[in-house]
Amino acid sequence: MKTSLVAVVAMASNRVIGDGDDLLWHLPGDLRRVKAVTMGCPLIMGRKTWDSIGRPLPGRASIVLTRDRSWQADGAIAASSLEEALEKGAKWLAEQGQGETRQILFGGGQIYKLGLSQCDVIEMTEVDLAPEGPALFPEIDSAQWQETKREEVLADGDIPAHRFLTYQRISAK
Ligand SMILES: NC(=O)c1ccc[n+]([C@@H]2O[C@H](COP(=O)([O-])OP(=O)(O)OC[C@H]3O[C@@H](n4cnc5c(N)ncnc54)[C@H](OP(=O)(O)O)[C@@H]3O)[C@@H](O)[C@H]2O)c1
Repeated sequence: MKTSLVAVVAMASNRVIGDGDDLLWHLPGDLRRVKAVTMGCPLIMGRKTWDSIGRPLPGRASIVLTRDRSWQADGAIAASSLEEALEKGAKWLAEQGQGETRQILFGGGQIYKLGLSQCDVIEMTEVDLAPEGPALFPEIDSAQWQETKREEVLADGDIPAHRFLTYQRISAK
């Protein structure tokens, strides 16, 4: 089964995505968008991101990349390479029989770095904050990616301004 790969990320203006253990903001609108974009799809994530979520997300497969071949957790499908993760994701999609063909590159920093070159689309929430943090989203090369959609959300109380952006790949992978 041929599948496409979509990176889904929330990133601060300095490219920070998390403190290594967790997210650095709480944006209910972003959580709703992530749910809508990812429902019915395999989520390919690093073991640290799995630890930070702590449970499988309903209606989606959690495919967890780890170098520890004995690693297991309830509700997770372990994979030791991106290739293996994509194979397991495609198998899960075929078993669902819903016609869905997208897989999601779900982070964190190490997994975006590993898989961004294989992505076809980036669904990004860009947050107007610049927190300290070790986990980053890679630079987006404008020769490879074109912004095709933008929706601005104004600051509101504790919620910082942010925007929902879609990038499509314009060069061959
Ligand atoms: N803002 C967002 O959209 C977003 C999304 C996701 C995560 N995050 C944040 O990102 C942070 C975590 O990111 P992170 O970069 O520290 O960790 P991560 O990418 O979630 O996970 C790293 C782990 O993945 C495994 N791994 C990495 N490369 C691998 C490879 N080539 N083959 C097999 N396994 C591999 C290793 O697991 P083992 O150590 O088990 O071998 C490694 O320790 C957290 O703060 C989280 O909240 C933010």
